[in-house]
Formats: sequence, C-alpha cells, structure tokens
Amino acid sequence: DDPALIDTFGRVATDLRVSLTDKCNLRCTYCMPAEGLDWMPGEQLLTDDELLRLMGIAVSLLGVTDIRLTGGEPLLRPRLEQLVARIKALDPAPRLSMTTNGIGLAKRAQAFADAGLDRINVSLDSVDRETFERITRRDRLRHVVDALAAARDAGLNPVKINAVLMRGVNEHQATALLRFALDNGYHLRFIEQMPLDAQHGWNRKEMITADEILELLGAEFTLTPSPAERGGAPAERWLVDGGPAEVGVIPSVTRPFCSACERTRLTADGAIRSCLFSTEETDLRALLRGGASDDDIADTWRATMWGKLAGHEINEAGFAQPIRPMSAIGG
Ligand code: GTP
Ligand code: 5AD
Ligand code: SF4
Repeated sequence: DDPALIDTFGRVATDLRVSLTDKCNLRCTYCMPAEGLDWMPGEQLLTDDELLRLMGIAVSLLGVTDIRLTGGEPLLRPRLEQLVARIKALDPAPRLSMTTNGIGLAKRAQAFADAGLDRINVSLDSVDRETFERITRRDRLRHVVDALAAARDAGLNPVKINAVLMRGVNEHQATALLRFALDNGYHLRFIEQMPLDAQHGWNRKEMITADEILELLGAEFTLTPSPAERGGAPAERWLVDGGPAEVGVIPSVTRPFCSACERTRLTADGAIRSCLFSTEETDLRALLRGGASDDDIADTWRATMWGKLAGHEINEAGFAQPIRPMSAIGG
C-alpha cells in the first residue's frame, strides 16, 4: 500500500484540515444569516476520541504532516486545549495550527501554546469598530485585537490575519488593516470572497478581485513579488515597501491554485472532502462506529482522495455551490 493520499493528477495531500464544530459566535454577513444556521445535532459530531483516531490514521498511515483545526469557530469546542495536547502526542506528531475568529482567545492563547499549538490564523476584516460590527453583526473588535496580541505574546509564530474585503463595506479598510498588521508584526492575507455562503448570495461582479486588492494597497504601499517559494500555499506573497514585511493575497477565484493543492478535509460530523468545493464526500463516521479497522478507514480515505477532481469549477458555466456552507466545511 502507498502510504500517501495521492490523486490521479499526481498531487499528494499532506495537509489535513479538521472542522471541530459548525457553530459560530459571530455572524459574518459573507458566511451566514443573522439567525445562524441549523447546527449539527450533537450525536452526529465526532467525539475527541474519534477525531484522534482519524488524525492518528492520517499521520501514521497516510503521510499527513500538518493539521489545521477549523470550524465554524473551533474555540467553541469544549476542552480544546486538551485535544490540542493529545494531537501533539500522536506519533509522528503533526505540525498543528488553527484558524479562528479569536473570540475568547486572549485568555487561552498561552494555554494553547503550552499544549503544543504551533501557529494561528485569525480572521479580521476591519480595524474600525463600526465596520467590524457591520460585517460580523457583533461588537467584538476589541476581543480580536486582544486575541492577536495574546497569540503573539504566547509565542505562536507566525500570527496571520485573514481578511475578506467586500465592495462598499470594508474596502476602505484595506490599507488600515495592512498598517495594523505591519505595526504589530502580524502576517496579513486578503482573501477573494468565494461562493460558499449559506445564503447563496455570492455575486461575481461584487467580488473584490486580487488585482483590485493590490491596487487598493498600492495607494499607500509599494508592492513587489516576494521571492519566497509558494509551494502549495494558497497565498501569493508580496514584499511591502521593499520588504522584509509581506502581505498575501489568496486569489481563489481569479487565479485558482488547485493544481498545487495539498489539502484533505474532515468535517465535524466525520466526512472526508477531497476539495473545499466537493459536491460529494465520504462518510467515515459510520465506519468508525461500525468497528472498521484502521486499514479499512485508511483505504476509504485514500479512495476518496484518488477521486479528487482537477479543481473547483467556480469559473465554469454550470458551477454548483457545495451543499455544505463554509461554516460546516472549515474553509
Ligand atoms: P496557511 O497554512 O497559514 O497558509 O493556511 P491557509 O491559508 O491554508 O488556511 P486558512 O484557514 O487561514 O485559510 C485562508 C483562506 O484560504 C480561507 O478563505 C480558506 O477558505 C482558503 N483556503 C484554504 N484552503 C483552500 C483550498 O484548498 N482552496 C481554496 N480555494 N481556498 C482555500
Ligand atoms: N470566501 C472567502 N473566505 C471566506 N471565509 C469565510 N467565508 C468565506 C468566503 N465565502 C474566511 C474567513 C476565515 C477563513 C477560514 O475563511 O474569514 O478567515
Ligand atoms: Fe463565524 Fe468564520 Fe463564518 Fe464569520 S466566517 S460567521 S467567524 S464561521
């Protein structure tokens, strides 16, 4: 058996994204409606032991080297510090990161670092309080700003910020976000908005493209391409004012990076997705709960990844948004 998660296009998935919950305590307008969504019933969620078994299979049998914890909002998962410590105790231990909105992180950042979390990405779309509230529908900017500082002070490195820009909402925040990141030593990436919102409100004409983002930043900064190797990373990197500081742009729609994708995904209810945009997925929960062996589970995971398509079809006619919204996939 080949240990790797390979597909028919020769890509190898070494990076596992695990969604720990579909719940969230913000209500970003580009993600979900004000009233929230119908959250997954508790009995459908994988337990910590089940998650650890699957992550153990991933690192020991399938060649996964990196694990990222996502949500919804992963910090809403009870006793997450303990889970982090148990993941880092897997053999071989993966590099471990988390993508979070930062609410409640300020008090917990040190505990996560102590438990073995290596680095963290925090979503922040505005450094202006009213704009932040307009997007997230919650008045929590301060919590996120404090979370970022706590993460940096706890030694999580790098601390990255993810920002989604929306026309007429926060495009005026682009340069202020970069100034904030530079002043504080955070790595900022701007993300093109993708058709993954629960309300199906995404509109190509409204989307702020990567080139527009670069133009907005160009008003105050000089950007030149970074010489750094991009590998399978979604972000294009640019030196700011000659470097060494950088800013990233994740151009998922206008310059897809699917051909370099190294990712496999596990949802909170135990499904494997070979792509963010998969319209099909493979349930592992029934196998887990039905007494399947590690090798059976590994084989099923391999078969799912073998079937991975060349790329998402956002730019093709007839593109269909996946049934799961972003918050139930984990980004
Ligand atoms: P790093 O390892 O720090 O580069 O993390 P990341 O950028 O892969 O992860 P993060 O969770 O911070 O995601 C940032 C943005 O990239 C989000 O909008 C994700 O949805 C998007 N993203 C992550 N993986 C993929 C992918 O496979 N395809 C596409 N199109 N977007 C992705
Ligand atoms: N398009 C692009 N990025 C999105 N995010 C959430 N929804 C979307 C979308 N529709 C971002 C969040 C978070 C990351 C995991 O994905 O802001 O930073
Ligand atoms: Fe929550 Fe992230 Fe969705 Fe915002 S984008 S509502 S923080 S899951």
